[in-house]
Amino acid sequence: MVKIENLHRMSDSQRLAYARLLLKAQGETERDAGALIANASAILMAVLENLNWAGFYWVQGEELVLGSFQGLPACTRIGYGLGVCGSAWKKNMTLRVEDVESFPGHIACDRASRSELVIPIRKAGQVQGVLDLDSPLLSRFSGEDERELQAFVEILEELIYD
Ligand code: SME
Repeated sequence: MVKIENLHRMSDSQRLAYARLLLKAQGETERDAGALIANASAILMAVLENLNWAGFYWVQGEELVLGSFQGLPACTRIGYGLGVCGSAWKKNMTLRVEDVESFPGHIACDRASRSELVIPIRKAGQVQGVLDLDSPLLSRFSGEDERELQAFVEILEELIYD
């Protein structure tokens, strides 16, 4: 059982540090990539505030295919360069979108989403998939959130690829 405690006392930054701690703890007892990825999305959804979707898409040929996630059922396939996720894949860079309505080609899976953060997951520099976080708040994700979530993704990369 993963015990999640005293979140109400934590700042955003403390919550992000706690999410990394929980993910590392998972890696001490589990080596299965699918299991770790599934719990990574659950950890983010349980620990961070103001998210309506947290999950993964994985590269399969010319598309991203839906992986483990928490939230409403989502689109299952996203083409290379399409939407925020496909653009983050194509550009091989993190995309932080303050207002999804101002992002050309944004794919609305959940109408509640107002802002979004997509971080590529890489193996030897090649994008293997993306972590996608959606929020019902405009400008939910700060530059600091972006850096801290990048560190979360780096822990996951080490756990599933090393
Ligand atoms: N909004 C994403 C699609 C995935 S959902 O948000 C879960 C995009 O534009 O790529």
